[in-house]
Amino acid sequence: MKPDFLAQRVRTAKPSATKEMTRLANELKREGRDVIALSQGEPDFPTPQHVREAAKSAIDRNESRYTDVAGTLALREAVARKFERDNGLSFDPGQIQVGCGAKQVLYNALQATIGPGDEVIIPTPAWVSYPEMVLLADGRPVIVRCGASTGFKITPEQLEDAITARTKWLMLNSPSNPSGAVYTHNELMALGEVLLRHPHVWVMADDIYEKIRYDTTPFATPAAVVPDLAARTLTINGVSKAYAMTGWRVGFGAGPVPLIKAMNLVQSQATSHTSSISQAASIAALDGPTDFLHGFVQAFRRRRDTVVAALQSVDGLTCDSPRGAFYAFPGCHGLLGRQTPSGALIETDTDLAMHILRSSGVAVVPGSAFELPGHFRVSYAASDAELFQAMNRISEACSALR
Ligand SMILES: Cc1ncc(COP(=O)(O)O)c(C=O)c1O
Repeated sequence: MKPDFLAQRVRTAKPSATKEMTRLANELKREGRDVIALSQGEPDFPTPQHVREAAKSAIDRNESRYTDVAGTLALREAVARKFERDNGLSFDPGQIQVGCGAKQVLYNALQATIGPGDEVIIPTPAWVSYPEMVLLADGRPVIVRCGASTGFKITPEQLEDAITARTKWLMLNSPSNPSGAVYTHNELMALGEVLLRHPHVWVMADDIYEKIRYDTTPFATPAAVVPDLAARTLTINGVSKAYAMTGWRVGFGAGPVPLIKAMNLVQSQATSHTSSISQAASIAALDGPTDFLHGFVQAFRRRRDTVVAALQSVDGLTCDSPRGAFYAFPGCHGLLGRQTPSGALIETDTDLAMHILRSSGVAVVPGSAFELPGHFRVSYAASDAELFQAMNRISEACSALR
């Protein structure tokens, strides 16, 4: 195949860095190395029993036909109940789209609204897929770097400065992958005040980690905090993280009807809809008991505390305790400029991540993949035993640098 057979947008797109680190880790594993992959973000718990049972009965009821593009009416009604119950947001089923994970809903929204030159503000560190999805829609990601000094969150001043006449969306992700930052009610109010002055800017609120939070403050989402923004907000969530259902591929978005209709058009020409069985299972997840969630969050909190304490004790690393999601995002500026025992210079966070992988067999993801260099991401969605071992190894790999 000639290189130019591939479309320009694919030639310039980056593959997901988290998947790339996991691929490298798997390669080392195949070579017989003992590798602990802390590079991917998925809960290691089984999907709750009642959800699995609901899927089995859907198969037995032969729910094996195409569904509505937007998702079954029954699931969209369950999603509407979820938004009402958890977030105080009222949506009709016509204002809801179900896709193959939150990822497809985000992708559909960008495909439905972004064209050449359109700008999307992405506060970083941010999930690796946001800028790439904007580029795949021929848009321009406007990266706003938000460091540890603002808790990895965008300030109203930074937002004001980033808005231009071409801005279409502000992407907000709380709790955040990779920093674990959670926006408070007041912080969203302050961002909302800026947005109210710029009526052409819409908000894409990615709340996929809503249920994985470690303090008792009520969860805040832009459409609920600033009702005047609801008419230009797409609120996105799903079952992947809260219900340990990453492989089932169900996510959803809710917003104004014309936007959802356009997103349905995109989806109708791509995947049509996600699996009918997964949709039936997701109704059981959303409507069913949530007592297991407490256990999930307790386990993540314990692991977070282990990981953060271990990282804080390493000379050259700094690490704040994340408020949500299941990632730690230590700063590694103190190690840059040092050398490995074999004399290789560690210039960047990517060099450091590669050194940690090669010398100690632990896969982490460099912060530059999330558009905030000088850090790396450790996923603590792994067993306590694995994390204990991985932290010792990271500590050894870092201490070996001179
Ligand atoms: C911030 C963020 N949004 C969306 C997703 C995608 O979730 P889903 O599995 O529902 O597609 C992820 C997955 O890692 C994520 O980290």
